[in-house]
Amino acid sequence: MINLPQRPRRNRKNQAIRNLVKENEVMVGDLILPLFLIDGKNKKTQINSMPGIYRLSKDLMLKEIESCLKLGITTFDIFPNINDQLKDKKATESLNKKGLYLSSLKEIKKQFPEAVIMTDVAMDPYSSDGHDGLVKNGEVLNDETLDILSKMALAQAEAGADIIGPSDMMDGRVGVIRNTLDNHGYSNVSIMSYTAKYASAFYGPFREALQSTPKFGDKKTYQMNPANTREAVIEANLDVIEGADFLMVKPALSYLDIIKLLKDNFNLPIAAYNVSGEYSMVKAAAAKGWIDGDKIRDEILLSIKRAGASIILTYFAKEFALSKK
Ligand code: PBG
Repeated sequence: MINLPQRPRRNRKNQAIRNLVKENEVMVGDLILPLFLIDGKNKKTQINSMPGIYRLSKDLMLKEIESCLKLGITTFDIFPNINDQLKDKKATESLNKKGLYLSSLKEIKKQFPEAVIMTDVAMDPYSSDGHDGLVKNGEVLNDETLDILSKMALAQAEAGADIIGPSDMMDGRVGVIRNTLDNHGYSNVSIMSYTAKYASAFYGPFREALQSTPKFGDKKTYQMNPANTREAVIEANLDVIEGADFLMVKPALSYLDIIKLLKDNFNLPIAAYNVSGEYSMVKAAAAKGWIDGDKIRDEILLSIKRAGASIILTYFAKEFALSKK
């Protein structure tokens, strides 16, 4: 026998000890479930690139939220799939109180006041250009977009949103939205800023879900360059000054270093968006029998939490919650 004073394996010798020394654990209450809303009744359409995830009409979404609440999922991030003929340059449909999104939000909140409803602020689901901002001569304009975004956020707050999620990456949007909400009596509505949102190929399946792929070009003049780290600190500093309540990093898995960086340098809660492409890759490989999808899911979520995100937006939320039952 070698005389070793430190034997780290002692702390791994059985499940009970491993539980005692466990540093991180993903809890159902840490998760936010993104949901895709479509027009119609009793409608559930498949998203080819996201097995197990569907676009749901309002009635079915109400049922889905009810069953998720029973599983301990408290928070839902709702995205609308808008009919093409309702899209225009200025995302006018985003302000239509009788339209799909705002009217459904209102009903969801009415039926489930205990559910935390998060909404998305960006022009892309409603934009005929498929961009997050207002396009003029092939350019995505910043300041002109802010006016539209703040009206959108206000309309969502009026419909009952608890957390506003600006995902557009325009400069100054958190401040403008905070001001608008406060000036209209919505100082209790939170802002989860997409602080460090990278121009990522991992959003592909989401754009299929919402049919929101940009009609030209890419999103590189507003979303961040995946090569950059320090720029995330600039964005986070601005979001803190402008009044964000949560800082989000997106995507999650290829950006664990950014999650850790923000966690170590900021005191606001850190969220991470485990995006559509990250979900799809697991599902595709699991369907082929190449990986154990359930174990990989749990390991991925744990890695995001370990990196420093206390909140995880993930399409795995429901199946994770079911696996805990
Ligand atoms: C749109 C938006 C996107 C996502 C959330 N909000 C896509 C994009 O920026 O093109 C991506 C989410 C995902 O991939 O799961 N502003």
